[in-house]
Amino acid sequence: MANASGFFTPSVPSLRSRIQPPIGIFRSGSRSPEGFSTRVFCSSTTEGADKLASGASSSESRVPRLVSQGCKLVGCGSAVPTLKVSNDDLAKIVDTSDEWISVRTGIRNRRVLSGKESVTTLAVEAARNALQMAQVDPDDVDLVLMCSSTPDDLFGSAPQIQKALGCKRNPLAYDITAACSGFVLGLISAASHIRGAGFQNVLVIGADALSRYVDWTDRGTCILFGDAAGAVLVQACDSEEDGLFGFDLHSDGDGQRHLNAPIKENEMDNTLGSNGSVLDFPPNRSSYSCIQMNGKEVFRFAVRSVPQSIESALAKAGIPGSSIDWLLLHQANQRIIDAVATRLEVPPERVISNLANYGNTSAASIPLALDEAVRSGKVKVGHTIAAAGFGAGVTWGSAILRWG
Ligand code: ACO
Repeated sequence: MANASGFFTPSVPSLRSRIQPPIGIFRSGSRSPEGFSTRVFCSSTTEGADKLASGASSSESRVPRLVSQGCKLVGCGSAVPTLKVSNDDLAKIVDTSDEWISVRTGIRNRRVLSGKESVTTLAVEAARNALQMAQVDPDDVDLVLMCSSTPDDLFGSAPQIQKALGCKRNPLAYDITAACSGFVLGLISAASHIRGAGFQNVLVIGADALSRYVDWTDRGTCILFGDAAGAVLVQACDSEEDGLFGFDLHSDGDGQRHLNAPIKENEMDNTLGSNGSVLDFPPNRSSYSCIQMNGKEVFRFAVRSVPQSIESALAKAGIPGSSIDWLLLHQANQRIIDAVATRLEVPPERVISNLANYGNTSAASIPLALDEAVRSGKVKVGHTIAAAGFGAGVTWGSAILRWG
């Protein structure tokens, strides 16, 4: 069994160094079975941190305990739009076929937002289901992390989700933008908040609607994506019960040229003349381009990077690949999933895949597949899962975790 010692990667400073001077973030109040008070102290001075470390603060007694704090996944949920779009439906609007799409990708159907559905409504439904499974009251949630690259509000949707869930004690809520790696990054962020800052119940939601940014005349991309939301409740626990064994995270801005949806170039302001004078003011309102992708490069990147990342996370966790119960990858393409599984020597019966029904749902794909696997009885309490996300940015990463 792995322990927390393998948890922090060289690229992510260890908890111990995070909670020592010069910078410390501590929740105020004493810990009780009911949880923490919701005030957060942020100390950015050596003096302040020294005070905390030397016992002048009410947080001092918490420091050693936080270092050995564990966290575990205790609930999951998901939600998908009602409109189902099949490969045959797509063949009516672009030059493609069910055979081409299913052979090249494994996808047969996807769900697409319609009517009053939104990323936020899906996220709220998924989060409610996760809270219900975890038997945690919305009032006991102290952090909501909304992992999405397609929020309904440019400024983020997490606080609206917090409000819709009826979290009256006002948990902290914010968004994380990292496309298809968003959920794995959210999971590790949740663990860091629990281990490093005393949070107790963290909702991690992955929700996206890439249908809003797909060029529905581009057969190279429109066949891949679908909309959905998934959520997990990550809860603080004793270190002996810790269920997040190791992780490995990366990003590389160089790869952005192969997968992006930038602000439209013709709307970027060319408002300054060569002498610095303003030519055109006010600037145009901005909007985003549709998803642009070099599929072959993204494919190569995924097949090369994901196995390395999982092997690295397994090594940090001290767990041999042969002892994981499930491989759960971001659901992008069945050929990518199969190639990674083959590279890691994980047999097909231990690979979770629901790509055929939903396509690539970006940040939602891992928690959506997890939720289906848990509710169908496939994934059981105590099972070890190697999960990995990869996508735009580019970003990629993996986490070795235990369910329940
Ligand atoms: N239907 C029929 N033919 C098609 C279609 C289609 N939907 N799309 C492309 N083709 C054609 C091409 O025009 C090309 O024809 P040509 O040989 O006459 O030029 C041929 O099929 C082969 O095209 P490729 O692009 O080379 O096909 P490939 O085998 O690479 O498959 C695919 C394309 C499915 C996109 C694959 O490259 C892939 O899955 N890449 C990974 C993409 C991915 O995972 N992206 C998401 C990242 S997650 C995120 O962060 C958003």
